Amino acid sequence: MSAQQNAPHGGTLVNRIATPARAAELKKLAATLPTITLTAKQACDLEMIAIGAFSPLTGFVGKADFESICKNTRLANGTVWPIPISLAIDDKTKAAVGDHRHAALKHSDGTLLGVIEIHEIFAHDKKLEIPNVFGTEDPKHPGVEAVLAEGDWLVGGPIEVLTVTPEKEPGEQFTEYRLPPAAVRAEFAKRGWSTVAAFQTRNPIHRAHEYLTKCALEMTDGLLIHPLVGETKPGDIPADVRMDCYKVLVDKYYNLKRTMLSVMPAAMRYAGPKEAILHALVRKNYGITHFIVGRDHAGVGNYYGTYDAQKIFDRFKPEEIGLTILKFENTFYCKKTKGMASDKTTNSAPEDRVFLAGTKVREMLKAGQRPPEEFSRPEVADILMNSSWVKG
Ligand code: ADX
Repeated sequence: MSAQQNAPHGGTLVNRIATPARAAELKKLAATLPTITLTAKQACDLEMIAIGAFSPLTGFVGKADFESICKNTRLANGTVWPIPISLAIDDKTKAAVGDHRHAALKHSDGTLLGVIEIHEIFAHDKKLEIPNVFGTEDPKHPGVEAVLAEGDWLVGGPIEVLTVTPEKEPGEQFTEYRLPPAAVRAEFAKRGWSTVAAFQTRNPIHRAHEYLTKCALEMTDGLLIHPLVGETKPGDIPADVRMDCYKVLVDKYYNLKRTMLSVMPAAMRYAGPKEAILHALVRKNYGITHFIVGRDHAGVGNYYGTYDAQKIFDRFKPEEIGLTILKFENTFYCKKTKGMASDKTTNSAPEDRVFLAGTKVREMLKAGQRPPEEFSRPEVADILMNSSWVKG
């Protein structure tokens, strides 16, 4: 690893993937253990922990960390951490686990994913978690809804993992792009990049996104386009459709010598500001130095202010975050200046600004109309127009 690279959050890059010898032992052990069947979100969390993307976490959080994260946006040891990565179980599973010191963690298809060493089982304090993480208790908020649907108990303890992606359909695994933090760091070192800007997204990359990434790249050696491909809510564009868009776009419109496309297997929580911190710290684990936060980052509906996800970083000392946060104004195509712009760079009238809401874009695509080139590159629009997401 290059000495210039950014240190992982908390100092050490975690790896909870078992060696083949240990995996054989765990398989034998698991056959004697009670089972916890993971939800899609929990399976994403397991992968993120296992590959070190959630460093310094080595497992699902215990009570002290859970409470400290919710109350102080920090782990119990003071390290900044915004959202509890917890393993919820229901009464029935709790009864089945009983006094066991370990449990087998399985995918819903029955595949053994890993083993947790149970340090504690404690009441899932949703009343504490929900308002502190999401800033709302509205059960219609998709992140709140997901927590409300979870079990009333949390299991804390370190995990060891045998496999992270056994169950997914071929093609949904994006194997070639699904690089763990250590591999992304190695790639940066190979390319000689010491400063890298990362871009989080759960959407196809439209012109506004493209503008942010290219502005960022003007300041750094490299750009990591790092879409989230774990669980998202119904209605969001599926990851396989988005991947087709990213590949076409990067190939045609980016400088491949300076741009890397890879995926992050995390689940979306739609927690706005708190999730922006998580997204940034996770990318630090992948070795980046600069992180893009635009308007309403990780937001949904009207729950968060346009720039809340930028402002929240001011609550911490820069060294506690350990990244340069690149904060962008709302950007759009400006007909007056004939380029991408924001309020900072143009004084054009509202009618000179090309802005399309997501629902409007979907309507256009469904009607077979390609959104204007000022909004989306035609190659991306074509993929979306012909996708199962629009047609299905
Ligand atoms: S997110 O859930 O991943 O944040 P999205 O994929 O829409 O959603 O956004 C990715 C990143 O681009 C976020 O940092 C977001 O704030 C930023 N962003 C999206 N659209 C714009 C825009 N028009 N102007 C400025 N920033 C934007």
